[in-house]
This record gives sequence, structure tokens and C-alpha cells, in this order.
Amino acid sequence: GVLGAGAYAANFAVAYRGRKLSNVGDLSFENKVRVPPLLEGKDDGSGRRVFELTAQTGESELLPGKKTPTWGVNGAFLGPTLRVRRGQKISVSLTNKLPESTTLHWHGMHLPAEMDGGPHQMVRPGETWNPQWEIAQPASTLWYHPHPHQNTADHVSRGVAGLFIVEDDEADRAGLPRDYGVDDIPLILQDRAFDDDGSIDLRGASFLQSLAGVGSPGVLGDKILVNGTYNPHVEVSTSLVRFRLLNGSNARSYNLAFTDSREFHLVAQENGLLEQPLPLRRLQLSPGERAEIVVAFKPGEKVVLRSYPPELGLSFPTKRFGGGEDTFDMIEVRAKSRLAASAPLPGRLRGAQAAIAVPADARVRTFDFNSTVINGKGMDMSRIDEVCPAGKTEIWEVSGDAEVVHNFHVHGLTFNVIDYDGKKPDAWLRGPKDTVRVPPGGTMRLAVTLPPYTDPKTPYMFHCHILRHEDVGMMGQFTVVKPGTEGSAPRSIEASH
Ligand code: C2O
Ligand code: CU
Ligand code: CU
Repeated sequence: GVLGAGAYAANFAVAYRGRKLSNVGDLSFENKVRVPPLLEGKDDGSGRRVFELTAQTGESELLPGKKTPTWGVNGAFLGPTLRVRRGQKISVSLTNKLPESTTLHWHGMHLPAEMDGGPHQMVRPGETWNPQWEIAQPASTLWYHPHPHQNTADHVSRGVAGLFIVEDDEADRAGLPRDYGVDDIPLILQDRAFDDDGSIDLRGASFLQSLAGVGSPGVLGDKILVNGTYNPHVEVSTSLVRFRLLNGSNARSYNLAFTDSREFHLVAQENGLLEQPLPLRRLQLSPGERAEIVVAFKPGEKVVLRSYPPELGLSFPTKRFGGGEDTFDMIEVRAKSRLAASAPLPGRLRGAQAAIAVPADARVRTFDFNSTVINGKGMDMSRIDEVCPAGKTEIWEVSGDAEVVHNFHVHGLTFNVIDYDGKKPDAWLRGPKDTVRVPPGGTMRLAVTLPPYTDPKTPYMFHCHILRHEDVGMMGQFTVVKPGTEGSAPRSIEASH
């Protein structure tokens, strides 16, 4: 890394500001977790589903007795769960009633770049943005959040985010629990820090603040919110429950386990189902990553989902600087005294995605993470870093920073982890993904299938999903063009912000 030990230690101080590293023992889990309302759109008469979204300001009681100014979609904090089916044509009407320009990015969605909601699709206050596309990917748990140039951490911290569930006929028959809010429950995991007056601590979330502490991950909160609920429990009424987990935090990684170390099954990663349920007792999620797990419960029992200090180089800060011991209770699960019997978990999952096949002559691109730049360059809205051939499968080789933990997210596509330092990845990292941790030091190879949509002038993004790193420039742009035309495609565009 380019940072000296002194600067590094200072960054940790900025991130924690003396806040606690654990909430264990502090919670009573007295609040029933909120379940984001489901929004499935209205038919416009021609078979297209129309979604009306408004980004707006509001006030929320997140902590008991405190009023917190917040932002949300169709409400004061977070937004509805959008649900669509593969093959549907959809149209979104997003009205920005916030005091600042923002965007809404469909994280994990396969769609043309100009519908992606990245930093080139800014929506000014009072304006409405109307992207339209066809859902062309397998069942999966995606999400949406703002992506304004240099300002993503701020807007997400204030509360703009939500889930975007894709369903399909094959996955309907996978035999998994799928009754939303009953036995198929979303859990959006976020840490936040609050000032004494109840407002969300945004210091360190803005670009200008960031310049003071390059490399700092931004705010690491000591309060955990699940679906925007503090001190939460979730009541379950069936013997098997599917949880759709999203790490919607700006910087914090979670290493999740139940406090009795019970086994659960991983059934899906970011971009869809695994071929078989994978038994696990621990699961790590870096910011932006999702996982679907199925957990068995006995009548009347209670158990807490806890995040333990991360392993495998995920820990931030590293032990060397006195951190990395963070332990947080996320939510208590309370099973009713009578549970409806669920169908047994199937041995194989219909609707699963086969691993991406990598051709022997696949092109290799390298992405070298260092401090807060990739391949030595910070984000430039007018520079196209990579021009890629539509629909082709490539190997993207990502090298970690020597000291700082990052992660890697690519817009508009699905990837698989081929290997990490030459070794096959752990089983829990072998599914269809769009975001993955980049532990310090190592090299990871990804099998990447590029989007089929060509547009030489509108880029997709790749970046670190620690939002402050993204904001200070740990991001680059790639376009997708007709194979064979890479050489004549523009390497710079007019930046629109
Ligand atoms: Cu979830 Cu480019 O982001
Ligand atoms: Cu994304
Ligand atoms: Cu990073």
C-alpha cells in the first residue's frame, strides 16, 4: 500500500470515532422487524409493468425517542421491495423530490448501460427519469441504491436503498420457501452511527470529507438496523425459513452465524440459485453482497443472528491497528409455539445457474487495487477504461491492496470466482456473483460474461463497493461494443454530470 502506518491509523480513528466495537448484551430485540412492502408494478395495458418511485425526504424514529431526518423511496427510510419476473418488460418512473441530484442504480441487473442508473444517469431535483428494459436473467435477489458521482455514500447513508427480486418459472419449482414476508423474509443489514440529536452521522460520507482521510472506509456505525429497524426481532411461523440477506452497509463486512452455531443452508448468491443447497455455519458478506439462506427452527425457540469478527482477510481494520474484533448482534429470531411444516429442502435446486464456461483463449484483463485507485487511476467520468466485446466470456484478474481490504463489483453482468491465489475458492464463493471481497495481498480470477447490449458511448462501472472508496475514485468504466469493433470505439466521452 502507498499509505504509511501513521495515515492508516488516522483513517481508522476517522472510521470509528471512538465508537463501540460490539453491541452484544445491549439489545432486548423488542422491535418487530419491518418488512419492506412489496411492489409489483401496474400493467400499462400492453403487458408492461410500470413502477412509480419517488425519492423523498422524511423523518424516522430509528432510535427510541429520537427523530432522525432520513431519505427514502416512497417513504421516509429505505424503499419497497420491487418484484418482477424473467421475461417481463418493465418501466420505472423515478421522481427526485430530494434537495440534491441523485440516481437510482439497479445493482445486479442485466440491462442496457443507459438504463443502469449509474453516475451518467443523474436525475436533478424535481425531474423524473424513465428507464425501460426487459428482465432477462434468472431468479435472484438484486437491490437498488443511488450512485451519484462522488456522493454515493452520503445518499445511501441517509436511507435510499431497497431490494429488487427477480423470479422465474424454473426457480418457482425449486421447492424453496417463497411466501414473501412469511417464510421468505428479506433482511437488509446496515450499520449506522448517530449524533446525539438523532441525526445520522454523515461525517466522512461526503467526497470533501473523504479527501481528509484517503483510504478510510468512511463511517463504521455502532448501531445495527435491519430493514431500518433498530433492536429487532423477527417472528417465524414455519419450520423452514428463507432469509434474503443483503449487506447494505457502506463499509462494514459481516461474518454471520447463529449464536448456537446451528447449521443452515446457502441456496443463492447475488445473481441466483446454487445447484445444491450448501450446509454452512458461518457466512461472510462484504458491502453489496447478497445471500439467500434456509434455516430450520423448532417451535418456541429463540436464537440470535450475530456478526463475528471477520476472517479471511475481510476484517477492517486489520488487527495490526487494534481493530477487527467487531461483534454485533443483528436480529433475534423468535419461533412461534406452533410451526407450519415446510416442504423438505430439495437436494438439487431447479432454476440454478451452471458455472460460466471459460474458453481456452479467453482474454485476460487485470485490475490492480492500490490505496483508492484501480490500475493506478482514479475515476474519470470522461475516460473509458476498458472496451469489451458483447457477450464474450473473459477472465478478470483482480489483485488486492497489500493492506487495505476492498471489494469488487461489476455492473450489468454475472461472474464466477475461478480461483484465489491459484486455489479453488471456498464452496460458498462458487455461485453466481456480482460483488466479491478482495482480501489484502492476493489475486483472484473471475470468469466474466459481458452484457449482450452494445453502446460505445455509455459505460458501465466497476468499483470497490466500500462506498467511500467508490466516491474518492476507486472506480472505472467499461463499454460494451460489437465484437471486432473494439479498436474503433471511443476511449473518451463527454461527461454528463
Ligand atoms: Cu451497488 Cu455501482 O453499485
Ligand atoms: Cu451495481
Ligand atoms: Cu475499497
